[in-house]
Amino acid sequence: MRRSALPNMCGVRSLHMSSHVKGSDPIGDTGDVRLSDADLSRIVRLVYERSGIALHSGKRALVLARLQKRLRVGGFSSFRDYLAYVGRDTSGAEITALLDAIATNHTSFFREPQHFDFLRSTVVPALAKGPIRIWSAACSSGEEPVTIGITLLDALDSQHHARIRILASDLSTKALAAASAGVYRMERVAGIPLDVLRRHFERGLGAQTGQARVAAHVRRLIEYRRINFLEASDLGERFEVIFCRNVMIYFDRDVQQRVVSLLERHLAPGGYLFISHSESLNGTTHGLRWVAPAIYQRLTA
Ligand SMILES: C[S@@+](CC[C@H](N)C(=O)[O-])C[C@H]1O[C@@H](n2cnc3c(N)ncnc32)[C@H](O)[C@@H]1O
Repeated sequence: MRRSALPNMCGVRSLHMSSHVKGSDPIGDTGDVRLSDADLSRIVRLVYERSGIALHSGKRALVLARLQKRLRVGGFSSFRDYLAYVGRDTSGAEITALLDAIATNHTSFFREPQHFDFLRSTVVPALAKGPIRIWSAACSSGEEPVTIGITLLDALDSQHHARIRILASDLSTKALAAASAGVYRMERVAGIPLDVLRRHFERGLGAQTGQARVAAHVRRLIEYRRINFLEASDLGERFEVIFCRNVMIYFDRDVQQRVVSLLERHLAPGGYLFISHSESLNGTTHGLRWVAPAIYQRLTA
């Protein structure tokens, strides 16, 4: 993308976006840290109990690749010591960091673009008045809620912009920190049409050269909150639209059922649920109606 595509901005913090596809720490970097079968099983169980993420094939390589850095940072010479520390840490900070490291945060702007076409062409016209509350659940580093915000701003007359509110949530505090900073390397925004970029992003200068920040008029639509599906029961509000994409693939049937029930409860009557095209609600019990690929609707009555 040409640098002149974006208006200038000041004060964008430098941000290391390591949260996309994690797992690049070389195995054995700290020396030969052994991962016994027993410790691997404990980690798999812990991750499942605390996040619902079910680690299957390749789990040994994944755990080694993603947790070595935690061991190195904490000065632990074995997974056994590390796990003992996780168990002792009553602050909850280390289990949060462990889950941050394990979760896959891959995402992108305008991912699965048909969903944003549907939002613009079918959902927006049906929301002529009242609040437009959207929940981007499992939003990772924020590309999804920003894309939703941009789509709504461009689809609605400015007199309706005050009706838009987006809740963006994730399990990962690291992903949420990146999301709320709203600063992305230029290559992350390179696929966004130039006119959309110009309207809704600012360009970094000086030390921030090579980065783009989501413009304030988009950022102010979005509230970021840590929500773990396994710990949430009632958020105290209903949403006209919920996006929950590319996360249920990491869950087994039981957890999928819990999450689908949670999402269904939080849909306003007539509200829409967007899942990923690589996911399905088959095998879960719900009262939603299929309306388009990877899109479901709660009945009005
Ligand atoms: C692959 S990203 C999906 C991002 C975005 N929704 C998309 O489709 O591009 C999956 C996200 O799910 C989050 N996640 C995993 N388990 C979760 C849980 N139990 N509660 C909330 N978020 C969770 C991860 O932290 C990660 O950021």
